Amino acid sequence: MRLGFGRILTIGAFTLFGLMPARAQNAAQQKPLMAEDVFKNVQVLKGIPVNQFMDTMGFFSAALGYNCTNCHGDEVLGNWEKYAADTPVKRTARRMVQVVGTINKSLFGGRQAVTCYTCHRGSPTPKVVPSLMEQYSEPPPDDPNEVEISRRVSPVPTADEIFNRYIEAVGGAERLAALTSYAGTGRYEGFDSYHGKVAVEVYAKATGERAVFVHTQNGDSVTTYDGRNAWIVGPDKPVSVLQLAPGGDLDGVKLDSNLAFPGGLKQALTDRRTGFPTTAIDDRPVQVVQAMAGGTRVKLFFDKETGLLSRVVRYSKTIIGPVPVQIDYSEYREVAGVKIPFQWRLTWTDGQSMFKLDDVKPNVAIDPGKFAKPPAAAKPVVAPAKVAE
Ligand code: HEC
Ligand code: HEC
Repeated sequence: MRLGFGRILTIGAFTLFGLMPARAQNAAQQKPLMAEDVFKNVQVLKGIPVNQFMDTMGFFSAALGYNCTNCHGDEVLGNWEKYAADTPVKRTARRMVQVVGTINKSLFGGRQAVTCYTCHRGSPTPKVVPSLMEQYSEPPPDDPNEVEISRRVSPVPTADEIFNRYIEAVGGAERLAALTSYAGTGRYEGFDSYHGKVAVEVYAKATGERAVFVHTQNGDSVTTYDGRNAWIVGPDKPVSVLQLAPGGDLDGVKLDSNLAFPGGLKQALTDRRTGFPTTAIDDRPVQVVQAMAGGTRVKLFFDKETGLLSRVVRYSKTIIGPVPVQIDYSEYREVAGVKIPFQWRLTWTDGQSMFKLDDVKPNVAIDPGKFAKPPAAAKPVVAPAKVAE
């Protein structure tokens, strides 16, 4: 039922090259682009970077159980320009943004206490009448991803104990220190590959750099991080080369690079908390650590039996509320004596992607160009205008 916008982008591999004014294209090279630099009809979501604007669209979709087309109309399929046109639903959503802002300002001191999800809970029509059925039946299982506040003063085990056990489980500090880089190849499956398997390359260095190249049918979908700046290029992105603004998404890319070499992970995470109620992922008990990665809240789930990391959830801030991005790790195999996950699933508000590595070469020399700003997507593609089912 909840399609997310991945379903739409499946048939909508398109770019906004033609639309971007030269001024904005220049700006793309220097600083993160703001929504109003790129989009034509931004009235309430001004002053936020393009990537946060798109995360906000993901938030709207997830909060209402909507696809992009439910608010924007079918005309947008394959055409970014059409998103600027107003529809009655879009106007309602704009008013709702103002209502939420007013509620939070007047009642909650500006805190994001109320978001679209508070009322909508994945539906376009919030409920009015309390349900007796819900009241008198078993509550659904807790969502382990929920952000809680730990009330236990001296939790057992502590976050450091959980991290230390993880370091041992992957091979120990000494072997981790000896792994300085790796280059992996494998397969990728996601909405942007029409759920077919396409080639993926992953490069990582212990000094902080990381890059992922997905060779989709419509061109390369690339994320690079040189240790300071990160860029995204893809045939389905609204901007040809998007530099990530500081905050949520940049923190996320940095976290991914820290997770590739967990020796320094503990130092990369501050305000580490444990003592949460026990929970399970796929029936396997996990220990939970909540922490901050830069300014972004993250939750890490460690398999209680193996000590290995099985899930990371990070919560990117948007102007409306936090959006979750979840990575589930599996298939740990040894590379130069260090266990690394050969498989991971990325789940976010606009889709799910699966990465499966076949081969990982440790301690190889990697061309620094791999981590630099990537060239613009090779060929802008105009999508066929039909909805994939
Ligand atoms: C709940 C309704 C809703 C959903 C769902 C939604 N949007 Fe929007 N979208 C809006 C509103 C409202 C605006 C205008 C924001 C403003 O005025 O600041 C907008 C603006 C945009 C714009 C800027 C257009 C321009 O040039 O001015 C783009 C691009 C966009 N949305 C893309 C998307 C995509 C992609 C999705 C699917 C992930 C999506 N939207 C889902 C309500 C929605
Ligand atoms: C205080 C509760 C509340 C919050 C918060 C809220 N909404 Fe709503 N929303 C409603 C109610 C109630 C309706 C009307 C549903 C009906 O017609 O029965 C509605 C209707 C809508 C509709 C029209 C649905 C349709 O297809 O006709 C859109 C779009 C919408 N909301 C978007 C949003 C967005 C986006 C946010 C967050 C910025 C948001 N809402 C936050 C209560 C809320």
